[in-house]
Amino acid sequence: MFIINTIVMNKKNLISETEFFVKSVLDKDGSGHDWWHIHRVRNLALKIGEAEGADLFIVEMAALLHDVDDWKLVGKRSPDQNTKSWLLSCHLNPGQIDLICSVIDGVSFKGANVSTFTNNLECAVVQDADRLDAIGAIGIARTFAYGGSRGRGIYNPAIPPVLHSSFEEYKKSDAPTINHFYEKLLLLKDQMQTTSGKVFAQKRHDFLLLFLDQFYVEWEGNIF
Ligand code: NI
Repeated sequence: MFIINTIVMNKKNLISETEFFVKSVLDKDGSGHDWWHIHRVRNLALKIGEAEGADLFIVEMAALLHDVDDWKLVGKRSPDQNTKSWLLSCHLNPGQIDLICSVIDGVSFKGANVSTFTNNLECAVVQDADRLDAIGAIGIARTFAYGGSRGRGIYNPAIPPVLHSSFEEYKKSDAPTINHFYEKLLLLKDQMQTTSGKVFAQKRHDFLLLFLDQFYVEWEGNIF
């Protein structure tokens, strides 16, 4: 019993130390990848993970750390702020470190026509949680925050959306933010990998459609 309690305590401590670490790394982010994104993804991932019977320690650690080395943000970081060195400093065993790193590796969206399907349950859970935070009202707010942080326009009717076939192409895109709805956000509902993710995504997806309808009416300066 004592050993089990010690393991539980250690896991709790590791989670709260990891929270502090992630807060320190993402503290100044203005692109929609701040601590509050991580907080929401962690909560969603735990809900989905519980329903799907996933390893909740792996899910929580991966959800907390999933954006520390994200390609969109990593240029701003010093090399010692990376996931692997943090996990090594936590003295986790190599199997746990590899699993958490492979979950994080599979989370990112990589382009409309690039498959990110995974057989790893914990990865599917964190991926769905991260993608739920990319749609709905929060997703819309984050999408415009990200576009603004990269100097992108809101919308340009002359620039059509592109369904990217490679991660490299997707990363290079500097299209207006509305294009991102068609290049990523509206595709996420059908890419959910867990049963709970599919259920949670529907209402958020419908809200994106509602937003776009209103956006185009207002874009033309119409009163309705
Ligand atoms: Ni994220």
